[in-house]
Amino acid sequence: MPEVLQNAEKSAVQSVPGGADHVAIIMDGNGRWATQQGKPRLFGHRAGAKRVREIVESCPDLGVKYLTIFAFSTENWKRTQAEVAGLMMLFRRYITKETQALNEKNVRVRFIGDRVRLDKKLQTLMDELEELTKDNTSVNLTIAINYGGRDEVARAIKDIARDVRDGKLDAEGVNEGTLSSYLDTMVLPDPDLVIRTSGEARISNFLLWQSAYAEYEFIDTLWPDFTRDIFSEVLDRFNGRDRRFGAVKK
Ligand code: IPE
Ligand code: IPE
Ligand code: MG
Repeated sequence: MPEVLQNAEKSAVQSVPGGADHVAIIMDGNGRWATQQGKPRLFGHRAGAKRVREIVESCPDLGVKYLTIFAFSTENWKRTQAEVAGLMMLFRRYITKETQALNEKNVRVRFIGDRVRLDKKLQTLMDELEELTKDNTSVNLTIAINYGGRDEVARAIKDIARDVRDGKLDAEGVNEGTLSSYLDTMVLPDPDLVIRTSGEARISNFLLWQSAYAEYEFIDTLWPDFTRDIFSEVLDRFNGRDRRFGAVKK
């Protein structure tokens, strides 16, 4: 087990037996939420960003140790230049505004996704927040920005190929664990539950490898309306599910 994960396991948060240790959320529906109110899409993104705090802060009580949220996909660059610029500005603002509260709540923040295409200022803020919160032991919050599951696997394979070429890795020894250890999520356990808001029943390139045995919940609520109570209800449903991992129940 990687050292980082061992440390995280000692976290102050108690897990519910068989509960959802790692919940991943596809935060969808900001645009429609704004449009319903006759407002520009960015208004919805702002409301969506505000929702994050309540959900992160509810994790310790709900027994969630890892929360991973999808903020911007590798495909979201296809949106208008204005929307993309607005979202990037919002990410910078979100980090600046939330840093203190996140740190005070003992939240450890990580980012996944390809940072190279993000602007330098944003990259610096992301690095600083990771560094500042690296010893925190409550919720492990992972924010996916410029993240795509296929892109992540492709980048990992490129790194594996390089290490084989450089004699650091034996090609014959490459297995599932090797690939997992080259992904952006290398220190995280696999998600137990993936929630998508806004009624869409697809995963849109989120945590493809890691979600092999995740349970899914597709709910109609738009992300800016997703409350702690709704989160709690979804977790209760998850706890009632029978996970077999390919085996037959005794
Ligand atoms: C999710 O909300 C946030 C991002 C993808 C950045 P959307 O912007 O996709 O909202 P809808 O799906 O258009 O309503
Ligand atoms: C997925 O939502 C990405 C995020 C929530 C960040 P999208 O709105 O981009 O997904 P599609 O286009 O509906 O599949
Ligand atoms: Mg959407």
